[in-house]
Amino acid sequence: MDIIQLHDKKFKLYISENEIQEMIKSIAKKLENDYASFVNPLFLVVLNGSFMFASDLMKYFKLPCEISFVRFASYSGTQTTGNVKELIGLCEDVSNRTVIILEDIVDTGHTLEKIIKTLKQHNNKDYRIASVFFKPNSYQLSHPIHYIGKEIPNDFIVGYGLDYNGLGRNLSSVYVLHSPNS
Ligand code: IMP
Ligand code: MG
Repeated sequence: MDIIQLHDKKFKLYISENEIQEMIKSIAKKLENDYASFVNPLFLVVLNGSFMFASDLMKYFKLPCEISFVRFASYSGTQTTGNVKELIGLCEDVSNRTVIILEDIVDTGHTLEKIIKTLKQHNNKDYRIASVFFKPNSYQLSHPIHYIGKEIPNDFIVGYGLDYNGLGRNLSSVYVLHSPNS
């Protein structure tokens, strides 16, 4: 099905399940190469959106590793609010750990800024960021995103963990907001 409806909006197929899986495999390969000599990196998963990415990535990543979760909220509907709230904080000792932050999407970067600040407060000096999607035209930080699945324009997408007001996270392909004139 190429057009789907979530709440009041229609979305059309944008990235197939197969293409997404190839993107995730490629991120896992790069991480395996870059982290081959590191002991037990900690994947820090940004809930809720990154749960599917984390699950797939960890199946493709064959080195010993650990996983932990944080949760922040900034989005309401299809707009970022710019005000990032911490809902689940960091529970692990990350002071001497190699951390790989897993994000579903980096948009303005406000959420990322909050996570980086949290890691610094917990005395972590060694972190990198992996994100399935990146919106370079919306990004407001200068901090590099080390591993990116795909750069996309400033469109609103759902699926593969990403939601529109709670719906769409369980879709294994990604869909983009459909404007009737396009
Ligand atoms: P940022 O703080 O503006 O970078 O936004 C980060 C969060 O906003 C992501 O982790 C998502 O939860 C959400 N978000 C950003 N863009 C989209 C989108 O296109 N669809 C669904 N959620 C999005
Ligand atoms: Mg998110």
